[in-house]
Amino acid sequence: MSDSPSTAPTVYLETFGCQMNELDSELVRGALVTLGYRFIEDWKTADVVLYNTCSVREQAEHKAYSRLGLIGQRKRDGESVVLGVIGCMAERDGKDIFRRYPQVDLLCGPGELDRLPNLIENMRRSMALGEDAPRLSKDARSALAGNKSRRSSTLAAADDNLELLDLSRAFEPVDATTERRSAYVRITRGCNKFCTYCVVPNTRGAEVHRPPDSIVEECRRLADSGVVEITLLGQTVNHYRYVHGSAVGSDGAELPQVGPGLNAFRNTAVLSAGVRTTTFAELLSRIHDEVPHLQRIRFLTSYPRDFGADVLEVMRDSPRICNYIHAPAQSGSDRILKLMNRGYTVGEYLEFVDRVFAYLPDATIAGDFIVGFPTETDEDFEATCALVRRVPFKNNYIFKYSARPGTVAIDRFTDDVPLETKKLRNNRLLDLQTEISREVHERWIGREVEVLLEKVRVHNTPRESSSPSEDDAPIHPGSKNVQLLWNRTKPRQGTQLLGRTQGDMIVVIDVPAGDWTASLGTIHRAKVVGASPLLLHANAVSAI
Ligand code: 5AD
Ligand code: SF4
Repeated sequence: MSDSPSTAPTVYLETFGCQMNELDSELVRGALVTLGYRFIEDWKTADVVLYNTCSVREQAEHKAYSRLGLIGQRKRDGESVVLGVIGCMAERDGKDIFRRYPQVDLLCGPGELDRLPNLIENMRRSMALGEDAPRLSKDARSALAGNKSRRSSTLAAADDNLELLDLSRAFEPVDATTERRSAYVRITRGCNKFCTYCVVPNTRGAEVHRPPDSIVEECRRLADSGVVEITLLGQTVNHYRYVHGSAVGSDGAELPQVGPGLNAFRNTAVLSAGVRTTTFAELLSRIHDEVPHLQRIRFLTSYPRDFGADVLEVMRDSPRICNYIHAPAQSGSDRILKLMNRGYTVGEYLEFVDRVFAYLPDATIAGDFIVGFPTETDEDFEATCALVRRVPFKNNYIFKYSARPGTVAIDRFTDDVPLETKKLRNNRLLDLQTEISREVHERWIGREVEVLLEKVRVHNTPRESSSPSEDDAPIHPGSKNVQLLWNRTKPRQGTQLLGRTQGDMIVVIDVPAGDWTASLGTIHRAKVVGASPLLLHANAVSAI
């Protein structure tokens, strides 16, 4: 860092894990750009290097920690660089990271990201004054929610400054060449479900719902700036429920509020006595109707419980809401689901699936499964395979159980399924899902689909295709998939346009050589002429 804190410092920011992290990174980027920071692609020369980390599985943490080693070398070479670990790993491992990785300068949990710019500025000042060793205490170098992360049991979350980060979002006009036509909008932060294997309720804290007006306004402004597709984000989006009048600021504006939890769904009387609420179905409907120039509305992730007919009705009646549902089943064994504390049985999951198809015959359903959860027997695993055979899942992300510190499962159960068995089950389930995915995709042959065009690809040199690995799998599907799937498609020559249907199926369209940039971000009809487990091949119905 040769410049003084007042000249434009450069930042390298790398994101691991889920869409929620991608959104956090985008907001952090916006906040820092406003302060004069410049983002670059090269970690070797950046003044500030930030890793936005994920703790969901051990593998994700290993990846991030190996990056820290590389930056350590820059520091040993005498370079002055600010290294920050942000996101769930910072929150979970806490200040212990400073001891184990002395090269790390600052830590910031996902619930405190509004404080990140200050942390960076302070660290840069301190470095400018004191050469190498920063003079700041560990406390001054970290912003972690700690036990505060599940602090509030009241409805009001008025001390929740994090909302400012969402509200500070920059709405720059979309530049066609950036391909940034899709955006995420947070509706709920945190999680109250406490699945026994999961770190999220600890790292991201209690479920907090954003006021519907703020969400609709954010969607409107994004659509105004040229965004074509918005994905609403929450750990359990269908549990969104905002109670009006219970969290209001001094200026009368509504504030984010801690969610009512499952009781609100089990006993609707809790909320019905004269209180006005906005449910998830109503929120979807408002966005659809009040932002008519937004072409696609999607949401991630759904919880298989309490996915009411009201949501399905809104989806059926609102053409611009995508009929795509990511609702992880996690296991097909009732015994394991109970140990996971998922709160539903396989029978209830199947009822949910049947209800989805009754309302939305063309819907696509995707999910996640964990294999090798403690005590999982061959019989439990066979039950999972049976569920995958029974439901026409478009795709499933399959994870080997990883015991995570801070979760209930690590204290309550021994991680007793051998790694070899986990790997075998993982591969068997992947193979089975590949068959199902092929069938699901093949059903579309001969039909017309609407494709949101996202990428142009020119193949000059044939490339090797590679098979999917757990490493590659994004935590939840999204446009990141498009790139991954590109890398896995068979080598071929020519120019292709790549996009997605409203059911999140990847579509490849062969086109003549030329400049297709202007077509990105537009939606076109195409007739499906071929299918594979990962994508559809289609011909444009009219000129693109
Ligand atoms: N081990 C393996 N997979 C996990 N997931 C969450 N926690 C764990 C864990 N400890 C998976 C679940 C979840 C997805 C985001 O990650 O399938 O839906
Ligand atoms: Fe984790 Fe369960 Fe919450 Fe999903 S619903 S974030 S798996 S605790």
